[in-house]
Amino acid sequence: MSAPAMIRLARPRALRSVRYPLARGYATELKPNSSFTKVTHPDSSTPASTQELIKDHSQYLLNTYVRPPLLFTHGKGLTLVDSSNREYLDFTAGIAVTALGHSDDGVNQVINEQSSKISHASNIYWNEHAGELAKSLVEKTKEHGGLGLSVGLGSKGEEKNGKVFFANSGTEANEGALKFARAIGKTVSEDKVEIVCFTNAFHGRSMGALSCTPNPKYQAPFAPLIPGVKVGKYNETDQNVINELVNEKTCGIIVEPIQGEGGVGEGQVEFFQKLAKRAREVGAVLIYDEIQCGLFRSGTMWAHSEFPIEAQPDIITMAKPLSNGFPIGAIMVRSSIAEIISPGMHGTTFGGQPLATAIGVHVLDRLSNPSFQQNLKSVSTHLDTGIRRLPKLFPELINDELRGRGLIRGIAFKDLKAPSELVKLARERGLLLLTAGSDAVRLVPALTVSKDQCDHALAVIESCLSILVENGFGEKV
Ligand SMILES: Cc1ncc(COP(=O)(O)O)c(C=O)c1O
Repeated sequence: MSAPAMIRLARPRALRSVRYPLARGYATELKPNSSFTKVTHPDSSTPASTQELIKDHSQYLLNTYVRPPLLFTHGKGLTLVDSSNREYLDFTAGIAVTALGHSDDGVNQVINEQSSKISHASNIYWNEHAGELAKSLVEKTKEHGGLGLSVGLGSKGEEKNGKVFFANSGTEANEGALKFARAIGKTVSEDKVEIVCFTNAFHGRSMGALSCTPNPKYQAPFAPLIPGVKVGKYNETDQNVINELVNEKTCGIIVEPIQGEGGVGEGQVEFFQKLAKRAREVGAVLIYDEIQCGLFRSGTMWAHSEFPIEAQPDIITMAKPLSNGFPIGAIMVRSSIAEIISPGMHGTTFGGQPLATAIGVHVLDRLSNPSFQQNLKSVSTHLDTGIRRLPKLFPELINDELRGRGLIRGIAFKDLKAPSELVKLARERGLLLLTAGSDAVRLVPALTVSKDQCDHALAVIESCLSILVENGFGEKV
């Protein structure tokens, strides 16, 4: 049988460097920007060749995603270009992944050089880069704070080292962390197998990770899930309630310092202090899932970097930005945990391969550079100022509550129908956004985002929010 004919898309135009001067100075008065009310990127104008391709591919791809008829062919920095050569400003970064932007020159160079040498030879041998990336993660965590490794704090409970296991995704990192918690529990008692997670959490979709993601939409079709998982209230600070939730049977607690998918809710330090105190009392492993908020997105290396030493975790899981879009995940554990992991207990075919980890070394080096950090701080402050305008401009739509920090930010809505409508309106004006949880829109741009790009995004958002108000969204005030 001959191969089916390939559907050809229009040839992509070379991407110019896109400038965003339009919205400059937009925020000088307390009046919503209205420069972007006109639809410029209608979903309905998808070219016939793209529509044909989507129809063809839908016959072969499992129908697991709800997506608009948009197909991106290339990008640069924060710009994505679709099959009709329309440019979009991307404030999603592939769901908090491409921290250095799309098609980054430095990342491309590492991919070219490393793939021309070796991409994969299996974990049954050593390679040059897995250990290098593990060392960099541990050393930078000591320098920036996290996992109780910070040097110079001098507190009791501080550990000297950490060790890393490489996986291929966030889910797989969490799955491994849960397994390690179980293995440690079993060293104490066969009954010490319970896992605690929290409301609004998202930890992934494999059986273990899904069991700790208490969202009926994700869980119900696959029940029964793994037994022994208890769900506590995120940000619960009553020590008695925590003590009841976490007991002698608990082997592990998994929690996000900032809940990305759940609505960009931030955990209070007091919550983590009390949780950690109880975890240590009963000998449960404390896992911080920093898959979305970690690796500098929150403004510090880890969202928990500046937590007091007694609120630091035993395990950190990470993934998304570590190789700027090349699949990777990792579990970093304190030495006390590393001691009980022995050969054969856990493994993976692809995890830690030289290509993924060579990219990771490069990405981590760039993200942790002091001048990159300085720029990140100043852009985050700028974005924050813009976000703070929104509840004042649209009190009928937007909650006062500020969600997230750094470049993981949530805009919380009073009208639950508004977030997905804003995402659509913004997309049809060339700005890509994400929803989060039941009531929020999420801004997670590449960490290379400029102040002009933030101004442009906020001006589009304000224009769209005015449309929502005109269309009757929001409550009467
Ligand atoms: C906090 C958190 N944990 C785990 C995951 C799952 O990661 P992955 O999709 O790479 O498996 C995600 C993905 O969005 C996440 O945000």
